[in-house]
Amino acid sequence: PIEIFEHSLEASKKIASRIAQLIIAKKEVGQMAVLGLATGSSPIEVYNELVRMHREEALSFQNVITFNLDEYFPMAPDREQSYHRFMNEYLFDHVDILPENIHIPDGTLTSVESVNKYCQAYEEKIDEVGGIDLQILGIGRTGHIGFNEPGSTLESITRLVTLDNKTRVDATKDFFGKHNVPKNAVTMGISTILKSKQVVLMAWGEGKAEIVERAINGHMSAQVPATFLQNHMNVTYYFDMPAASELA
Ligand code: F6R
Repeated sequence: PIEIFEHSLEASKKIASRIAQLIIAKKEVGQMAVLGLATGSSPIEVYNELVRMHREEALSFQNVITFNLDEYFPMAPDREQSYHRFMNEYLFDHVDILPENIHIPDGTLTSVESVNKYCQAYEEKIDEVGGIDLQILGIGRTGHIGFNEPGSTLESITRLVTLDNKTRVDATKDFFGKHNVPKNAVTMGISTILKSKQVVLMAWGEGKAEIVERAINGHMSAQVPATFLQNHMNVTYYFDMPAASELA
């Protein structure tokens, strides 16, 4: 289903409340909630709301395991643009999640061999905890989900990828110049994302309108990786009005 909201804040609160309900439902039956998380501007209000619920409504993250979608490569975790740093700043530092339950792709490995091994182990860890219950996604202007750029196949798994030029241009503001934007990233694959039981994709602002229209109405193709979500049994799209403005 597609849900369209006047403001992204309202939509973000709805997403946060879905996440909270999942965590609470799992806790009641003594299980862990496994969340797939995204970075970037889109989920910030969701994380703000989760932090508020932790503070004001005693929402606990002790039974939460997280897997982030991606990280730049190469990237040290303490650098300003690191997704490790992002997650700590917007969520993990403010809630009671156990550090050992946090998983974010490692951007510091130095050989192709070690990266491949790491990616394989990342997939296995997801499977070992029973798979991701709820994956949240943003969408890039290239149609990427995670950093699965055009050309990514349905079968793709966690791996080292090359960032699309458009994605690097969009990241320029964070890196103070395009030449500083890493050329690569480690990302979950399309098949990794599609394995999660529920998927939430959010997009805000008119800058996303064109790609949102292609993701929803376009035929399924590796040219617009987000179209692969059309295959998923339980995906909800959350848009604000500007992002949904090109939808018929
Ligand atoms: C981030 C990620 C990316 C972003 C996408 C949109 O972990 O996987 O796919 O979700 O690039 O970024 P924003 O939200 O900054 O527009």
